[in-house]
Amino acid sequence: MKNNISLRSLYKKDAPLLLECLSNTTIASYFHLDSNHINLDSMYNFIQDSQVTPLYSRFAITDIETDEYLGIVSLENINLSNKSAEYVISLRKEAQAFGYGYVATMKILEYSFNTLDLQRVYFNVLSKNETAINFFERCGFVYEGEFSEHIFIQNEFQSLKWFRLMKHEYDKIMMSGTSSVYDVKLIEFAHLGDDRGQLVVVEGRHNIPFDIKRIFYIYGSDSKVVRGQHANRHSAFCMINVRGTSKIRAIDCNGNEKVFNLDRPNIGLYLPKMIWKDMYDFSSDSVLLVLSSEYYDGSEYIRSYDDFLLL
Ligand code: TYD
Repeated sequence: MKNNISLRSLYKKDAPLLLECLSNTTIASYFHLDSNHINLDSMYNFIQDSQVTPLYSRFAITDIETDEYLGIVSLENINLSNKSAEYVISLRKEAQAFGYGYVATMKILEYSFNTLDLQRVYFNVLSKNETAINFFERCGFVYEGEFSEHIFIQNEFQSLKWFRLMKHEYDKIMMSGTSSVYDVKLIEFAHLGDDRGQLVVVEGRHNIPFDIKRIFYIYGSDSKVVRGQHANRHSAFCMINVRGTSKIRAIDCNGNEKVFNLDRPNIGLYLPKMIWKDMYDFSSDSVLLVLSSEYYDGSEYIRSYDDFLLL
């Protein structure tokens, strides 16, 4: 994750690299641009237009040291009566996968909710763009619904997924240091087996994202039992069904939920702090091994689901 970026106004010198970002038909449409007439001149007009209208707040994402242009992040259709705006981001290919998009998004959300005093930031994305959707979910945006086959683009009708973030949801993300359910991940460990049998290795900070301070395991629970039913303020976990199977329901404090099947001994479920978890549907032979980033401390457990959702 790179924090060394800043948001600044668009300058004329950004035009060539801006052209690269906005020449994609879909992105162009978010900026109300005619994709058939995108060239350097239209970029100069776009930059000039961006300085004068209260309808948009468009920022270049730049390297804080070199001022290199990395992409654009914007609020379009700002409506101060409704306190809403549409969020758009486009990064140069070379600037993708470094965490710049996340930092730029957090900066523009801060500006949206704390400077412009908006209540709602929203956007849509092509339903098939799973990489972008994963990114938006990681940022904390909440899925609202789908417009099926809504636009004709790239020679076919395509569906759009709509996302939003309300001010109270943003405040919740900022204040509680909570995690998103989209940060919960299945990790596949390598089998190091041979004809003598299998072997799986888990090493703190190597193939799971924390140092292991504590190990416990749960067995003898049957298919009717639900265990867990709590969130932890500080502990992260990795859960592995070293024998048998179980399911884990993970919920974040925005109420987003995901269910994971633990059905192989070389699969671990990484759960960051502040995720509600229910473990259930245990097979009779289930042995659920849990690796934790912290020593046991009963006071860091949140055992009331209602309290958890209020965080
Ligand atoms: P509990 O958290 O209810 O288990 P689960 O989440 O699997 O349903 O823990 C059961 C008991 O064990 C409870 O009295 C606390 C105690 N305990 C420890 O002393 N140390 C630990 O590391 C854990 C996980 C639990």
